[in-house]
Amino acid sequence: MIDTLTRIKEGAEQNINRAEDFETLNEVRVKILGRKGEITQVLRGLKDLDPSQKVEVGRLANEVKDGLEKLIEAKTQQLKARQLEMALHSERLDITLPGRPVQAGAQHPISRVADQIKAIFTGMGFTVAEGPEVELDYYNFEALNVPRDHPARDMQDTFYITEDMLLRTHTSPVQVRTMEKMAPQLPVKIIVPGRVYRKDDDATHSPMFHQIEGLLIDERITFANLKAMLMLFAQQIFDAGVKVRYRPSFFPFTEPSAEMDISCVNCGGQGCRVCKQTGWLEILGAGMVHPRVLEYGGYDPEKHTGFAFGMGIERIAMLKYQINDMRLLFDNDKRFLQQF
Ligand code: DAH
Repeated sequence: MIDTLTRIKEGAEQNINRAEDFETLNEVRVKILGRKGEITQVLRGLKDLDPSQKVEVGRLANEVKDGLEKLIEAKTQQLKARQLEMALHSERLDITLPGRPVQAGAQHPISRVADQIKAIFTGMGFTVAEGPEVELDYYNFEALNVPRDHPARDMQDTFYITEDMLLRTHTSPVQVRTMEKMAPQLPVKIIVPGRVYRKDDDATHSPMFHQIEGLLIDERITFANLKAMLMLFAQQIFDAGVKVRYRPSFFPFTEPSAEMDISCVNCGGQGCRVCKQTGWLEILGAGMVHPRVLEYGGYDPEKHTGFAFGMGIERIAMLKYQINDMRLLFDNDKRFLQQF
């Protein structure tokens, strides 16, 4: 019996040591320790031995059994460690591979300039108002003193939704919309940024572009107030040394009307290609709000006066950043946009 146990022990130890995978190891375990395993048989046979042998063989059998269990456990750990080692080897992460660069965005030059203009005027006490891009003919033209057959409509041809509804050609309709809402409160002091639409399309005109409108109505507002505020604006958006001048002009919704020029941002006034040798660049239209427009808005032209102005944001951005083709602003080419 004791010889048998020794034989079992040695054979098992060899098999365990040789096992290269979990399956083989498990087979060895079943063969020795399983329900019909070699050691199990020995333990079962104990009852047939005489008592003197029983104790000795029993102890030895249990010793062998414990020893082999420990050996199997140790081997199991060894196989697991090897498996992990192999997995780490084959799936190694290359931490030296460069990461994917984050594509950082930048503010579009139109938004930048619009924000700057808004900041300048809100700094002077203006608040920001907005209005619809699909506008009624009434607000876009009629209430701005441009009746149906007026020749001034030719310059602002646009896209019509119905006979009475269109894509607004300027931000000026928000003047009357705001006056209607506010009358008779004073002052009305708003700027209106937004998209506008026209039938033009070339290097300096886009069928969709952006404007900022300004409107100030109160008692005793004069052309001097207009000049002072627009001068401050020009100095802040371009530079402190910029000069401005006004030329008489015509807009149906202002009287008198003017266009404001600034000294050329490229040559400082000497004359160059940018200013077509004139030394000046036109940047906005302005004037004293026409009495009829005040009436349409619900204000009394005998008591209230006001000034208004309107400018194209693209034009300001192009002058500020020396962009020579407006279409660049809408192509969304990153090589262009990353420069700002
Ligand atoms: N709405 C005019 C345009 O789009 C610009 C303009 C001129 C606005 C004079 C005004 C203004 O408020 O007073 O050409």
